[in-house]
Amino acid sequence: MKDTACVDFLQWALPKLHLRWPGFRKVRGQVCKRVGRRLRALGLDDGAAYRAYLGAHPAEWEVLDAMCRITISRFYRDRGVFDRLRATLLPEQARRARERGETALRCWSAGCASGEEAYTLKILWLQDLQSRFPHLGLPITATDAGGPMLERARRGCYPKGSLKELPEAWIDAAFSSSDNEYCIRAAYRKGIDWREQDIRRTTPEGPFDLILCRNLVFTYFDAPLQRACLARMTDGLRPHGLLLLGKHETLPEDTAGFTLVDAHHRIYEKIRV
Ligand SMILES: C[S@@+](CC[C@H](N)C(=O)[O-])C[C@H]1O[C@@H](n2cnc3c(N)ncnc32)[C@H](O)[C@@H]1O
Repeated sequence: MKDTACVDFLQWALPKLHLRWPGFRKVRGQVCKRVGRRLRALGLDDGAAYRAYLGAHPAEWEVLDAMCRITISRFYRDRGVFDRLRATLLPEQARRARERGETALRCWSAGCASGEEAYTLKILWLQDLQSRFPHLGLPITATDAGGPMLERARRGCYPKGSLKELPEAWIDAAFSSSDNEYCIRAAYRKGIDWREQDIRRTTPEGPFDLILCRNLVFTYFDAPLQRACLARMTDGLRPHGLLLLGKHETLPEDTAGFTLVDAHHRIYEKIRV
């Protein structure tokens, strides 16, 4: 499918799925390839034929919805965010948890892709913070709508390219390598609960001290869907808990109950108690 035809098609289809075109503009290639493959599989000529097909086969919307999942991720993505967490914000959360007599800081990686974000958090905790908070665990619930993404996350093996932003010392500590693959070691897999969940319908049970919702809801979903997801995330977040967005994301304009603790890294704290 030609790019202009794909753009026309997406600008028509995305709002019907409560998704927003501006979020897809730069990364549409991934979706256009899948749509092109789907047209060939169905024996359809173009976007117009696919529109008609969608009209006649409502179940196809589910297929299209799944094709619209952008799956790009990497370890230590936007490293400044993780550095800020490591330097001040996680230790602060850990002290609060200790004062409450808790034995765990609970985290949720929403839209976890192949596990890069959840494992990054685990690595920085075990490498840098665990020794300062020896009685505190860092359990992570990691959710994604894509079953194959979660299979890769559970397997925990990656090409060197997805690790390129991680410091070498952390790679050596956290991965074993063979056949050009880097597989996360057992100690870093412990305490991560992988779940196939669609964030539009299901939210894992809180309360969480930290929610990472980066490069998903606030990029790809339309405003009403953003608000609905945010309401459920807010409920699942402990007072003073942190909500991390992607580098280019922001909460809906009229959002109350959060303060922006780091504008550059899009880190919000829940203030309404
Ligand atoms: C662009 S990746 C972001 C990965 C990671 N959070 C990051 O920032 O590197 C978005 C992920 O969200 C997942 N996703 C898309 N729609 C979803 C939905 N409705 N519910 C849960 N996960 C979804 C995709 O499968 C993909 O793995």
